[in-house]
Amino acid sequence: MTQKVLVLGSGGREHALLEALSRSPQVPQLFVAPGNAGCYTLATGVDIKADDVKAVLDFVQAEDITFVVVGPEAPLVAGVVDALEEQGVLVFGPSQAAAQLEASKHYAKQIMAKAGVPTAGFAYCKSRQEAEIALSNFTAPYVIKEDGLAAGKGVTVAETLADALDALARAEAKHSPVVIEEFLKGVELSVLAIADGKQAIPLISAQDFKRVGDNDTGENTGGMGAYAPVPFVNDALLATIQTDILDPMMKTMQAENAPFKGILYAGLMIHPNGRPFVVEFNVRFGDPETQVVLPLLQDRIDVLALLMDSAKGDLSSWRGNRALQEPTQKAVTVVVAAEGYPQAYASGQVISLPDALPKGVNVFHAGTKRQPSGDLISVGGRVLTVTAVADTLSEVRTQAYLAIEAINFPQSFSRSDIALKASESISPHGIGSLYSQVYTNS
Ligand code: AMP
Ligand code: GLY
Repeated sequence: MTQKVLVLGSGGREHALLEALSRSPQVPQLFVAPGNAGCYTLATGVDIKADDVKAVLDFVQAEDITFVVVGPEAPLVAGVVDALEEQGVLVFGPSQAAAQLEASKHYAKQIMAKAGVPTAGFAYCKSRQEAEIALSNFTAPYVIKEDGLAAGKGVTVAETLADALDALARAEAKHSPVVIEEFLKGVELSVLAIADGKQAIPLISAQDFKRVGDNDTGENTGGMGAYAPVPFVNDALLATIQTDILDPMMKTMQAENAPFKGILYAGLMIHPNGRPFVVEFNVRFGDPETQVVLPLLQDRIDVLALLMDSAKGDLSSWRGNRALQEPTQKAVTVVVAAEGYPQAYASGQVISLPDALPKGVNVFHAGTKRQPSGDLISVGGRVLTVTAVADTLSEVRTQAYLAIEAINFPQSFSRSDIALKASESISPHGIGSLYSQVYTNS
């Protein structure tokens, strides 16, 4: 039977998901809602918002879709997985209850406390007054997070008390409770683990570049680039992440009646002593991490089979499969964003892409649209993510940046230093010297 697969979402992550699914030996028929211009080269576009649960259900039934893959968090939090499962449809992603791990920072902290998972100490404050009092128990830099979904933009790391108080005022203006956290020192790591309700298996680890400017300066964004694999990740660190973080989280979510299926994305801070701490959980593939993780997996793994086994609740046949964590090549992805992002930016700019791309290079679309005239235009802040796969990090960097030069999109920018420090490292093993070179946060 041909699988009819619907992917929900419209970013670079979803384009990369479709690309990986299209490589499956099962040769699925692909649909995407709502998608972008790049997605439509691989899948039939469906004019439905990803978080319009009723419309998704109707489409799935009318079209006899056999498998749904949920990209972003909003449909998960809206309960699309629960609604589809009630109708007997196989779906990749966590339930509404389990998605609270991302939707509420306070819920995530409570679960981590129950599970005994290492994370920053915190105070949960419902009012500005409460928060101002709690702040005196912390020292600079102050970490202030609005409780709720904020697309990576509700977090302030303030160097001064005055800036911290400003962040509390901004949260109050949005009527948002806040979590104030202890500042964690170290280097960040994204571990995307695939889970079936009982066990979670980490995939190739990645590093994301969240700040808008080179050398990690400027505002936080959804992510300006990523690379994988991360050189300092070794078996010992992965084993600690498994036993101290993933296993207790899976157990605790089961005990809470919210067993976790889908991608448990652990945003980690690796302390200089090598110990991992959880900064946050997301409940879905990361964007742009997916644009490096899947291209490294898709030639060796049937990604469709992997996601379906997660959805069916049985990943046992994947346990011990080293291909999930150990790629044979390296990947980097660089985001091409509209000038102004993450603040206001212009939409509707015409983009022209090169006719042919070198082997190993892929331009994933994020905020793009095809006009009736045939012109490709920008319709978002993060517009394209350019991925290169090759044998060394310096080679993939060269390939990705050459491809970006060949794109004609005048009012755009990219970070120039994605994976730069890691590519310059001469010691690819162990956490020692490399650690100091990718150390982003002191
Ligand atoms: P989040 O949305 O929770 O991942 O936070 C966004 C970014 O803020 C993270 O990727 C970190 O760079 C930074 N951050 C968040 N929490 C902390 C913390 N407790 N200590 C240090 N940096 C943090
Ligand atoms: N790259 C960060 C995220 O997907 O939330």
